Amino acid sequence: MDINILAIESSCDETSASVIHNGKVLNNIIATQTVHENYGGVVPELASRAHQQNIIPIIDQALNHANIAKTSLNAVAFTQGPGLLGALLVGASFAKSFAMAMDIPLIGVNHMQAHILAHFIDDPRPDFPFLCLTVSGGHTQIVLVKDYLEMEILGETLDDAVGEAFDKSAKLLGLPYPGGPLIDNYAQTGNPDAFAFPETSTPGFNYSFSGIKTAILYFLRDRVKDNPDFIRENLNDICASVQRKLIDMLMNKLRKAAKKHRINHVAISGGVSANSELRNRLDEEGIKQGWTTYIPDFEYCTDNAGMIAIAAHYKYLAKDFTSLHAIPQPRMKF
Ligand code: KG4
Ligand code: ZN
Repeated sequence: MDINILAIESSCDETSASVIHNGKVLNNIIATQTVHENYGGVVPELASRAHQQNIIPIIDQALNHANIAKTSLNAVAFTQGPGLLGALLVGASFAKSFAMAMDIPLIGVNHMQAHILAHFIDDPRPDFPFLCLTVSGGHTQIVLVKDYLEMEILGETLDDAVGEAFDKSAKLLGLPYPGGPLIDNYAQTGNPDAFAFPETSTPGFNYSFSGIKTAILYFLRDRVKDNPDFIRENLNDICASVQRKLIDMLMNKLRKAAKKHRINHVAISGGVSANSELRNRLDEEGIKQGWTTYIPDFEYCTDNAGMIAIAAHYKYLAKDFTSLHAIPQPRMKF
């Protein structure tokens, strides 16, 4: 029998819908909210309202493009968490109503697991077990992936996520939200060794990124005092140096985790896996350490419903359905 699933993502500032047919993602429609650009971060209330405006047109588009009738759907999936409560509620409410109206199963998906499972949308698909460094605006985790739905967090950030460190550094430089891709861009022609930033040491495979944000704040404050044009004159070098520091921190713990757990299949996922330096460094490290490395297509790095769809497919096969009484879980764990 065919398996057709409609999947919805609404955890943060992307409203997205995808249709998956027998494990093949047919489309991945994404409406990115631009309303947050001038606020230096996502404004939860504005995100919820934009999701409400976008959700029906996005789902219509996904179903029409896939040429699959609502009556041919076998399940409807949604991001149950982690994420912003109001934003999650929009996707969850639609999915629950739809499941009830069509009398089909509901599948609640963990957003962080979905980022990892995005690697199973297209070839090359990773072999189990593998390590995945999941790096986004809300999370930074090193995950041991034993099977599609069996994952263990080996380490995570104790404070800010690395995406947050990128975005907050960008904000200090006067750049709009989200600043991660802009830092990446300016860094291309900068000198990564121009400026040094200290790092906080953390136990095990855990990270801490809040110290570096403070270090950059004081560094800029002191330099701008001497030269008001310091940021404008050194933007590329500052971006390259900040990026180098953040990627060094990510790679150091990842290398240690791979060694300790004797894993030689290593992946990256989440919004920050779109970062060009991280992508290059993973490849270089792979060659050095003898790892097989997996880097997602840009389309599946930042938030998207394609990853929710592939996760839902495996949950459907495992008959892992969700109650119609389920509520969104802003701090959902594995
Ligand atoms: O996974 P994602 O879309 O949303 C969350 O689940 O948080 O990740 C968004 C994060 C933002 O912090 C954004 O600045 C960062 O990913 N990001 C990047 C790049 N592209 C997106 N950070 C650094 N370099 C990039 N090229
Ligand atoms: Zn995400």
